[in-house]
Amino acid sequence: MNIEVTSDIIHVVEKGLLRERKSLPSWLFYDENGDRIFQEIMRMPEYYLTACEYEILQMNKGDILKRFHRYGPFQLVELGAGDGMKTEILLKHFVAEKTDFSYHPIDISSSVLEQLQRRLQKSLPALRYYPQQGEYIDALSKLNLSSEQRKVILFLGSNIGNFTLKRAKEFLKHVSASMHVDDLFFLGVDLKKDPRVIRRAYDDATGITKRFNMNLLSRLNRELGANFMLDQFDHYATYDPETGEAKSYLVSLREQDVYVDALNRNIHFARWEYIHTEVSLKYDQPMLEELAEISGLQIIKQYWDGKHNFTNVIFVKPR
Ligand code: AVJ
Repeated sequence: MNIEVTSDIIHVVEKGLLRERKSLPSWLFYDENGDRIFQEIMRMPEYYLTACEYEILQMNKGDILKRFHRYGPFQLVELGAGDGMKTEILLKHFVAEKTDFSYHPIDISSSVLEQLQRRLQKSLPALRYYPQQGEYIDALSKLNLSSEQRKVILFLGSNIGNFTLKRAKEFLKHVSASMHVDDLFFLGVDLKKDPRVIRRAYDDATGITKRFNMNLLSRLNRELGANFMLDQFDHYATYDPETGEAKSYLVSLREQDVYVDALNRNIHFARWEYIHTEVSLKYDQPMLEELAEISGLQIIKQYWDGKHNFTNVIFVKPR
């Protein structure tokens, strides 16, 4: 555990839990335990997102490479790379086609980056590979890329869903500002659909997503010396078809005080008081076009899975 991360956690817990409408940022999910539970989520049938994006990448890897490589060698930067399972479809194909490119994965979780590194060393020993731990925007500006080479930025898995629409727009402006003319941004995003299908993806019957959400409290117990009693909280997930927001909460089952050693104080919970822990925003076509418009990027290609559950979009920084 590095000290910088711990002080970030203290800061967000202070900011998020010592106020009326309690909330915690969703990046807190991803410690070693959370990484593992998220990998379980990606394998469960209710969580259709992973299989859909897999299908899109598998079906279109040839066309994707053609577009990425249109102007020759490129640097492939991935924001929130995670375990890189899906990206590996592209990486394998690019390497098999003897493509001249380097891979720059960025992730908040150092444990998941180590896992990725071990896998790539085995499966793709020829790949030029430069991992970086950190927050997306931060790391994006710190990346030491050679400026002569074109940049292709990947942001897969509907990770953008963790931003509200307002923050997604700001985020895209940042990404756009870091791009040069002809650079590409390749986005994977979950689409609005049958509200029941979406709700089930975030509230599965076997309780894997519940474990994922509750791990946040275990993490605060472990890392901040808190004494959350896990059986006194429950997982609750909603989906609002109007806004496209799937939201997750931890709900206090009774009135209680939780002591947090690192803050040296108690946090009070009324019965049924909640902690908002995640938003997973679902998009429609007008929302995607709004993102392009506001960031000054242009949509040049879009792919869908067979059920139109999910889409991958190529944006270009126009001349
Ligand atoms: C990794 C942010 C894309 O929001 O769908 C899965 C995380 N949360 N189940 C998502 C998550 C609950 C996931 N993202």
